[in-house]
Amino acid sequence: MSAHILQCTFGISFAFCFFLGGGEAFDNGPRITGVRFLITVNDTWAEPPGCITTVATPMIAPNLPYNKSQSILVGDCDRGPIQYTYTTPGKDGNKFTVDLTFYSSVIEDASPPTCSLSWNGTYLVPKPSDNSLPDLLPACFTMDSREGYHMTYYWFHILDWRIE
Ligand SMILES: *[C@@H]1O[C@H](CO)[C@@H](O)[C@H](O)[C@H]1NC(C)=O
Ligand SMILES: *[C@@H]1O[C@H](CO)[C@@H](O)[C@H](O)[C@H]1NC(C)=O
Ligand SMILES: *[C@@H]1O[C@H](CO)[C@@H](O)[C@H](O)[C@H]1NC(C)=O
Repeated sequence: MSAHILQCTFGISFAFCFFLGGGEAFDNGPRITGVRFLITVNDTWAEPPGCITTVATPMIAPNLPYNKSQSILVGDCDRGPIQYTYTTPGKDGNKFTVDLTFYSSVIEDASPPTCSLSWNGTYLVPKPSDNSLPDLLPACFTMDSREGYHMTYYWFHILDWRIE
């Protein structure tokens, strides 16, 4: 990238620089075109030990309207479309922040679970001198309740992403 910037400094025209730089440096920055999530649901109100399942979603585009979103089946525990928007730069110095809503079929008479995930567009690495098994995927956790008292736990991880 520095080579491109150098060429830009001495470039003949801005349009020429823009072409050399691939656009990213002068555009609105990188764009997320798809994310695959892991969704985990624990219906704690189900018979002990709860109904707990994790599934991977297909690649989902950002800003999809509800009526164009595919419903995701989370085993026998839940189902519904997942929608998200993103910002770049993201929160707290991260490159991206994804704000998601899972239109859970088990949440009635309440807002659907939402969660916010920030990361730098790279997989995480273990922390130095921490030999535990760390969570290497950006993740967020939330809980929501059905009819005010049936608590349901949600974990969302970013499994994969497509950036242009
Ligand atoms: C899931 O919910 C059940 C029932 O409340 C609880 O016993 C179990 O610890 C929960 N599991 C996790 C991973 O939260
Ligand atoms: C989806 O919803 C939008 C806005 O509510 C509407 O304009 C569009 O026709 C709908 N599309 C389908 C396939 O139902
Ligand atoms: C992303 O980078 C920023 C700045 O270096 C850092 O503060 C932040 O912790 C990083 N995020 C993650 C999820 O590692």
